Amino acid sequence: MDLVLNTIGASVDNDMICALLPNKEVEIIDTSNMKIAHCMGCNQCWLKTPGICAIKDDYEDILKKLIQAENLWLVSDTHFGFLSHKCKRLMDRIMPMLNMTLGFRDGWMRHDLRYHALNIGLLYKGAVEQSMMEDWCKRTAANIGGQSLGAIALSDTFEQLRNSQLSTFPLLRGAGGINSQLTHLVIINGSPRVEKFSNTDKIVHSFVKGLDEAGITWELHNLSNHNEWDAAREAFLTHERTLIAFPLYVECVPGLMLEFLETLPAERKQQGELSFLLHGGMDEGNEYRLCERFLKGLPAQLGCSYGGTLIHGGSFLIRTSKPEMAAKMVAPYVKMGRLFAQKGNFLAPEAAKFTGAEQYPWLIRKLISLAFLAKINKGFEQFAQGWGCTRPLNDKPYS
Ligand SMILES: Cc1cc2nc3c(=O)[nH]c(=O)nc-3n(C[C@H](O)[C@H](O)[C@H](O)COP(=O)(O)O)c2cc1C
Repeated sequence: MDLVLNTIGASVDNDMICALLPNKEVEIIDTSNMKIAHCMGCNQCWLKTPGICAIKDDYEDILKKLIQAENLWLVSDTHFGFLSHKCKRLMDRIMPMLNMTLGFRDGWMRHDLRYHALNIGLLYKGAVEQSMMEDWCKRTAANIGGQSLGAIALSDTFEQLRNSQLSTFPLLRGAGGINSQLTHLVIINGSPRVEKFSNTDKIVHSFVKGLDEAGITWELHNLSNHNEWDAAREAFLTHERTLIAFPLYVECVPGLMLEFLETLPAERKQQGELSFLLHGGMDEGNEYRLCERFLKGLPAQLGCSYGGTLIHGGSFLIRTSKPEMAAKMVAPYVKMGRLFAQKGNFLAPEAAKFTGAEQYPWLIRKLISLAFLAKINKGFEQFAQGWGCTRPLNDKPYS
């Protein structure tokens, strides 16, 4: 069965959707007005109530349908060359379909499947690069053991849309780099996870030690707290340099961060430069390249120049590690703070080197698999017991 989640409602016709899909056994759900929150990264669906999301809203019924589906088609409009936050959050909430435990699939480290593989396709509206949408489908499907069903543009040709929409971004290609010395940095933590538990927060607090040493002042705003959004927006619009630090969520930016970006005006009164600090659970650099591609195109659409992206994986265990170990994991970011203090951006080669291996060689993967994975997975079980989890981590509550 094909499940279609339509996040743009009546602006696309059900008959049109059916005509485009190869399979005729289709269920279409209009999610555009449903109550669906963003995943907040609480990990309860992995470590406390395996397979059951802690957020009680309309997503639970969708999850039950996903478990019956073989193919998932998403219908989305697009912003900044990527999916809308309404569509992205549906995928961010898909975590209960996976287990916390890790293994290698097709040469890449992946979370084990709780149920079965799911193929993913996309019907989209808007000016985006087709190859970007296809890559996102491919990468996202691989996370759930499936194949990409492809990405289909819903109306007009890409070229027509591109020409009409690019002219609506006034500063799209015009924003030059910032030459002045860095004196103050606005930092936005784009993680949906509350500050207290956020790995990004720990990374940022290590990074700013490098700024402190150089006498650079900074301010931090957390998107996990909606009350901080106005101040974050104002700080971004009124300062020259902003750094958005955030975790990779389902191959790109968290839905919550996309929603925040969608609230920013396309124009600003003064020059600005936007840099990014991107981290995530998986170690290898290749995991982050689609998101990096999105980030490269984003600042110009917000009237800013691009100050580069610092990428580093392996942050997944910071939260679950003992404080001394967590401190060790984030310590290398101090050096990157020093680099940023000196250069004012992440465009220097030292920042690119910080990412590490693009993909581990076969032998290293084998070694990780044999020497560490069983221990790490056991550690998850023990952690879950500490959270009062009484079910096996691979429990299947909805089957
Ligand atoms: C909904 C969700 C999706 C995620 N998707 C990815 C992913 O695609 N790739 C990855 O390497 N890590 C992924 N992660 C792991 C986070 O990037 C990682 O745990 C990070 O350290 C969380 O930082 P935070 O505590 O500041 O939110 C995901 C986590 C969540 C909760």
